Amino acid sequence: MTQKSSNTVWHNATVTRIDRERLHHHKSVILWFTGLSGSGKSTLAHAVEDYLHKAGCSTFVLDGDNVRHGLCSDLGFSDSNRVENIRRIGELAKLMTEAGIITLTAFISPFKADRSAARKLVPHGDFLEIYCQCPLATCETRDVKGLYQKARAGEILFFTGIDSPYEEPERPELVVNTQSLTLTESVQSVIGLLQTRGIIKNPSAA
Ligand code: ADX
Repeated sequence: MTQKSSNTVWHNATVTRIDRERLHHHKSVILWFTGLSGSGKSTLAHAVEDYLHKAGCSTFVLDGDNVRHGLCSDLGFSDSNRVENIRRIGELAKLMTEAGIITLTAFISPFKADRSAARKLVPHGDFLEIYCQCPLATCETRDVKGLYQKARAGEILFFTGIDSPYEEPERPELVVNTQSLTLTESVQSVIGLLQTRGIIKNPSAA
């Protein structure tokens, strides 16, 4: 039987999150991008990171496809594997928040309950859910990775939007319509959210 980590004692860090945020000149936060495959989550997360990095912020993108090559390489796309995938990402993003970093996560994260569980891991206001809204038909037409075609042909099972559900966010902090907005406009709306929430002061003095 696997030994669970019951005989462990929490060690309080001497350097705190507030110390790290002071060093970085901005607050830390989780920007949780959610949406269908092909809805533009990764593109937007990386573009926002690029913007913030140039403004002097400490950032990191956790990307679904990349993380599944390493930390989550043992997981597939059954419901229970997706639950575990998002649980791990939630915990990792929480640690990165403690490290004073603006963490951008780009996972389909199709289930409301999992996104809600990730939200609850951090204090109120530290989890900003950004819904990359894009009709399935558009994602399917884009089909950047050719996966929708394979899913329709039955070569990939449990594909989100085809034979596996996507539960739309009810009250995300931000909805970005990636079909109608340009990438620059989408980045601006995320940056606006960060400013409104007091995470960064202004782009140049972030
Ligand atoms: S999640 O549902 O667990 O959040 P995640 O974001 O990590 O998914 O991975 C999604 C990516 O894996 C997609 O963008 C796509 O490239 C790839 N993928 C492969 N098989 C599937 C599938 N059955 N459903 C959705 N995405 C898949």
